[in-house]
Amino acid sequence: MKILGIETSCDETAVCLIEASGTFDASFQFKILGNALISQTAVHAPYGGVFPNLAKREHSRNLVPLLKQVLRDSGNPKSSHSAKASKDKQEPNPEQIPNSKLENIQIILEREPELFERLENFLSEHEGPNIDAIAVTHGPGLEPALWVGVNFAKALSTAWNIPIVPVNHLEGHSAMSIVSHPDTSLYNEVSGLRINESGFPAIALVISGGHTELDLITEWPKFKTIGETRDDAVGEAFDKIARMMGLPYPGGPEIARRASRSRQIQEVSPLELPRPMMKDESYDFSFSGLKTAVRNVIGGRTLTYAKKIEIAREFEDAAADVLVAKTLRAVEEHGAQTVLVGGGVSANTHIKQRLKEALDEQDVQLLIPAPEWATDNALMIALAGYFHALKKEFADPASLRASGNLRLANV
Ligand code: KG4
Ligand code: ZN
Repeated sequence: MKILGIETSCDETAVCLIEASGTFDASFQFKILGNALISQTAVHAPYGGVFPNLAKREHSRNLVPLLKQVLRDSGNPKSSHSAKASKDKQEPNPEQIPNSKLENIQIILEREPELFERLENFLSEHEGPNIDAIAVTHGPGLEPALWVGVNFAKALSTAWNIPIVPVNHLEGHSAMSIVSHPDTSLYNEVSGLRINESGFPAIALVISGGHTELDLITEWPKFKTIGETRDDAVGEAFDKIARMMGLPYPGGPEIARRASRSRQIQEVSPLELPRPMMKDESYDFSFSGLKTAVRNVIGGRTLTYAKKIEIAREFEDAAADVLVAKTLRAVEEHGAQTVLVGGGVSANTHIKQRLKEALDEQDVQLLIPAPEWATDNALMIALAGYFHALKKEFADPASLRASGNLRLANV
């Protein structure tokens, strides 16, 4: 089965085409046929965070060029007619997509006129590709951004008569952790699952810019949320603290680099920050107190390099302590065999190392995506979508909506 994944929940526009076969066991295999992503980091950096309407505009601009690239890389040909038409310098064949369909597509993309224009040109030049389903992120995330992807999926579904699988972005992050990772530069490399039946129950730790939560998974893809952040997400805390220290967005990698520098030159952390809710009985998190503590340490002063790396290190230690303690407790209480970590913060080397040490001791398998697949991408959406497509869990395009607050819990 060939699945086209589309991701636009935040500031990454991504499209990926995979070919997958088998069910959720050793028979599962997939390969990437085409994968493309445009990061809007530089667009949002001057604002110190993601601007939803700017993200929406960028997604509208980026989706068609990315789709073109993915289809080209996967060997889906342009229409023979339009190739001839362009050679003869004639207008592309307007009969390829009937006008009635184009009118429907225009209605679907009413709020994204630039996207419609690009898509109309694209459709007039390209034959319907060999794709069985379109998997699209429908939440959670920034709603204006999500809508662009959802409407794009609806438009393609209308043009090509292909069903849509709506995918939860957080399920996508978790799906990325359970597969062996293809080399980003190699297409057609065959990969499979890194987990089997004996790997369940599992605990999913989702740590991203918008979410921090722990879920119990008894079987894929049944998620029961057992704890979540009561205020800021851990990635958001990384970003906000970086901003307070005058470091660019996104702050996670900036803080991580400085924290690592501090560990190289000083054995113990000279600073002490709180570990919010670490000893609390619930599995909930809170990171806003940590942010306030950092604000107090800074106290409006211009920081020296030495102070910056101290704060970065102690903040990263505090975040790691809390994440590790809660995850371990969840593992023990639920007899988990595996921990799946997903989301952008799972790219953090120190947090990964700390989780690994703690879980090795308990003989629990730790599955974390390779750093290049930890942040938002469309492969994760195509992968998660595949298992739903197998069960024909398709959406009615007329009622499919983007949902900014969509929850991962589904049991
Ligand atoms: O999953 P993601 O790409 O987008 C969301 O779904 O939110 O996560 C982005 C978040 C940002 O907050 C970013 O600062 C953080 O992941 N991040 C990191 C690292 N790389 C990305 N946080 C800590 N250490 C990193 N190395
Ligand atoms: Zn994400």
